[in-house]
Amino acid sequence: MPPSPPSSPVLAAAAGRLGTESAFEVLARAEALRRQGRDIINLGIGQPDFPTPPHVVEAAIKALKDGHHGYTPANGILPLREAVAADLSRRMGADVDPGCVVIVPGGKMTMFFAVMMFGEAGAEIIYPDPGFPIYESLVRFSGAKPVPMILWEKDGFSFDADEVLSLITPATRLLILNSPANPTGGAVSKEQMDRLAAGLERHPHVAILSDEIYARILYDGHAHASMLTYPTLRDRLIVLDGWSKTYAMTGWRMGFGVWPKAWVETTTRLAINSHSCVNAAAQWAGIAALEGPQDCVANMVQAFDARRKCIVAELNRIPGVRCIVPKGAFYAFPNIAGTGMDSRTFQNRLLEEAGVASTAGTAFGNHGEGFVRFSYAADMAQIEEALKRTAAILGR
Ligand SMILES: Cc1ncc(COP(=O)(O)O)c(C=O)c1O
Repeated sequence: MPPSPPSSPVLAAAAGRLGTESAFEVLARAEALRRQGRDIINLGIGQPDFPTPPHVVEAAIKALKDGHHGYTPANGILPLREAVAADLSRRMGADVDPGCVVIVPGGKMTMFFAVMMFGEAGAEIIYPDPGFPIYESLVRFSGAKPVPMILWEKDGFSFDADEVLSLITPATRLLILNSPANPTGGAVSKEQMDRLAAGLERHPHVAILSDEIYARILYDGHAHASMLTYPTLRDRLIVLDGWSKTYAMTGWRMGFGVWPKAWVETTTRLAINSHSCVNAAAQWAGIAALEGPQDCVANMVQAFDARRKCIVAELNRIPGVRCIVPKGAFYAFPNIAGTGMDSRTFQNRLLEEAGVASTAGTAFGNHGEGFVRFSYAADMAQIEEALKRTAAILGR
């Protein structure tokens, strides 16, 4: 007798393993409070508060008027891939073949493709904790075992290359790196990257996904240590980057991956099997962003820098809170353990009592407990008011 069918449709087990970004949940609650008339300051969201530069917007409008309305090649239009390659060689001195650049709808898609290409039952994938929550979510979805690489406050949320290398086993398929990092603002030094790159030469079975989406948002003269600069790793290195943060283009959904030649065909097939191609007009706008004036980026980073100094100084004045100085991105990640609250209680009390949206450190992994993420992608007056309210509910 064949088994009788279930009484209702059955989702694949993998669907139940998907995680989420709880910053979006906080945003929904903040919006609900706003609708009730509450004055909410949002330091929970990870996107620049600046508009996309006008010359980039104009380029998209022109592309639409010029008739760029159809599908493009799945890996992106050639002039855009050439512009990406030229920009990377200009800024990093790295030799990038436009044929290895794959344009995708946002940085996340490169992450999704990389994890889908390497993750399956029996495989292990190493990812940063605390880190961008989608890494762990995708690893679990793929069926692979998530292996956290713990980032410590005492190390400025950088990593020790030997500690990372010690996590590698014969089952390791992929190592995910992120510098400058979300949620900590940590950035890995060139010296640690050199040591990691040298050590990885002893593990040729490990592919590397280097998420460099905040590469252009660094402070105090810190230089970006890109994995692209290690020629010996290039045949197993995927670099994730995009326009979202650098050019304030989160809603345009424009990202790219630099892939080893051997994997470009599979990546392009994944594109064909999912989104077909990125919005054509947005791709033309992407060229204008890379080839146009770059003072828009410098001005944004300068504004973030002033806010960074303000938020760190103010956080450190609050009893029970201490905050190291972030080196990059636009997040402060204070240690709030001294307040006696766990991260989630802190996040919820801050939102409900002070009207300030932040994100509990635990949204970024188990090792985010005791921390809270504040995005300083908000204007200075809002940041100052948010910190005043935070100090008030903590009894300063
Ligand atoms: C570390 C990191 N990688 C990737 C992304 C995804 O960027 P995008 O919006 O371009 O998909 C984000 C967005 O917050 C991020 O913080």
